[in-house]
Amino acid sequence: MICLGNICRSPMAAAVATKMVAQGGLADQVLVESFGTAGYHAGEPMNPGARAALKRHGWPSDGHLARRITPADARAADLLLVADHSNLADVRRLTGERDRAKIRLLRSFDPRSLPADLEVPDPWGGSPADFDHALDLIEAACVGLVEHLASELL
Ligand code: 4NP
Repeated sequence: MICLGNICRSPMAAAVATKMVAQGGLADQVLVESFGTAGYHAGEPMNPGARAALKRHGWPSDGHLARRITPADARAADLLLVADHSNLADVRRLTGERDRAKIRLLRSFDPRSLPADLEVPDPWGGSPADFDHALDLIEAACVGLVEHLASELL
């Protein structure tokens, strides 16, 4: 899971996907991690707004420390799921040609999303409602993601 700062969207997405992966019986096969394309917040915990939204929605929110993605991280992953088109462009610059097929917008896994609206908007500096909205979109996408993983792996 990849966003810009790795303190809001991608850690929320990793928390949700990790729990859904476990609920789907895939914990032995799938490791979910999160990264930022920028290092502004490296070493910092999750943004308080993101933590609070996870708590409101009943997801775990502990133990995150922000990291900037490296080319080696990108190479090691099977899927690189980005929050928005800016992240998509940044990750494309980071990977070799061969790894480009692994990059997808996270919301492309939401069967109800529309092709013109596939971003998780950045809630950083926004209101609790902005964080809740981002988390709603993340949850819908992760349901589709875990269905996809189950169909591939189970
Ligand atoms: P995120 O949110 O990419 O969802 O973690 C942001 C966090 C920090 C900044 C921008 C977005 N920033 O510019 O520092």
